[in-house]
Amino acid sequence: GERLDFRASKQRLLVVANRLPVSAVRHGEDSWQLEMSVGGLVTALLGVKEFDTRWIGWAGVNVPDEIGQKALAKALDEKLMQRCIPVFLDEEVVHQYYNGYCNNILWPLFHYIGLPQEDRLATTRSFQSQFDAYKKANQLFADVVNEHYEEGDVVWCHDYHLMFLPKCLKEQNSKMKVGWFLHTPFPSSEIHRMLPSRLELLRSVLAADLVGFHTYDYARHFVSACTRILGLEGTPEGVEDQGKLTRIAAFPVGIDSERFIKALELPEVQDHMKVLKQRFAGRKVMLGVDRLDMIKGIPQKILAFEKFLEENPNWRNKVVLLQIAVPTRTDVPEYQKLTSQVHEIVGRINGRFGSLTAVPIHHLDRSLDFHELCALYAVTDVALVTSLRDGMNLVSYEYVACQESKKGVLILSEFAGAAQSLGAGAILVNPWNVTEVASSIGYALNMPADERERRHHHNFKHVISHTAQEWAATFVSELNVTIVEAQLRTRQ
Ligand code: ADP
Ligand code: G6P
Repeated sequence: GERLDFRASKQRLLVVANRLPVSAVRHGEDSWQLEMSVGGLVTALLGVKEFDTRWIGWAGVNVPDEIGQKALAKALDEKLMQRCIPVFLDEEVVHQYYNGYCNNILWPLFHYIGLPQEDRLATTRSFQSQFDAYKKANQLFADVVNEHYEEGDVVWCHDYHLMFLPKCLKEQNSKMKVGWFLHTPFPSSEIHRMLPSRLELLRSVLAADLVGFHTYDYARHFVSACTRILGLEGTPEGVEDQGKLTRIAAFPVGIDSERFIKALELPEVQDHMKVLKQRFAGRKVMLGVDRLDMIKGIPQKILAFEKFLEENPNWRNKVVLLQIAVPTRTDVPEYQKLTSQVHEIVGRINGRFGSLTAVPIHHLDRSLDFHELCALYAVTDVALVTSLRDGMNLVSYEYVACQESKKGVLILSEFAGAAQSLGAGAILVNPWNVTEVASSIGYALNMPADERERRHHHNFKHVISHTAQEWAATFVSELNVTIVEAQLRTRQ
């Protein structure tokens, strides 16, 4: 589609991420259907336009046979103008690396949930075998990068799936320009040090020339981990190891705000808006849009809404919560448990406060297409983002981008990276404090127009001036500068 059409220009950029912007579904021996992938990383990287980009990643599917692999590579080529290059991972690697080490160990740890207890670990065998699979998978990504690398390319590695990649790449070619960016929080060094493979992961990330995080705090945590756990020296620029400097800095991501703002003018989006307005006429609408992930605080959000209804009987038939929760990482047991937990709470509350004609919570287990999503963002009165931890949270940016005419209220967790950029316009909450969130819901629903306008204006200005394109341009130019400086230093 139109959004995958990167504009070619000077510098070649090899983006390497576990997830490709499209995921594949097989329909026959050599027939594939491609669907947009969901998640903040994909959203951010799709907003990057001013490079000649190749995107290397996993298509989310096991393709054991060569015929299928060739057909898929070709389908990606044709559909995406040769810009998406698949990495093939077999079922066992996906189980141990993606479901295991990435999503059962690193993801929960980096979001302060901690390491799996025995019962959670037993489902995917031991730390060591999962870490071995992780390294093996990272080496497979490195092999594909090496196959497509041309001298002068910038290689930009992304996220917790690929912490071992900078080392694999530099071992092969020390001149390669390698950057690494983390889309999640980097936790306090006291959390990171729990990880059995804490040393190897830090060392491998440090092989990159430039290491980036969403916020200054995450960067600081990473530097502390390097100084306290590895005993290296931290400098204002980064971390130094035997004369080699790894530059470390914060690069807060944004969205392609123009794409959202322009979409609101499209007839199909306007049609969706009309339908939604009719459907919910006479009621205020609160919106939640999340992957169904334990870090999003979805149960806490719903319980806070229940408390609000409990304490404000006059609002009971006048407000509805739309929670759009797309299933994610469904082979990981923790995620399956969360799904049933959320369904149970929603069912209970709808039973308690619903009537013959209306229910207070509409919960959908699915993703919405871009047009439906924009329409929802535009017509709703309040967005509720209650992440228990979140690297940035781009849903909050998307909501703000679509609210120029309505000036709805954003309730935002103070534990999302976005709290640092949208905090002045949003109502910040501690999602663990259900009473506080419930009263913020009341405050948001009753907020006078001038206050809504003031808060929205503040955030809108930020969202349109800190875009994904600017994020990528800043990171890549910083990487280029870092390398020139390093060359000058070695010449001295
Ligand atoms: P994360 O990266 O953890 O998923 P973000 O809020 O940063 O969190 O990014 C989520 C991205 O996925 C956003 O671009 C959002 O539009 C999209 N998304 C999340 N849930 C849905 C959904 N139910 N339907 C469609 N898109 C969704
Ligand atoms: C977060 C991660 C991304 C990931 C996305 C969706 O945004 O930072 O790396 O792609 O979630 O998760 P998934 O496991 O489906 O790729």
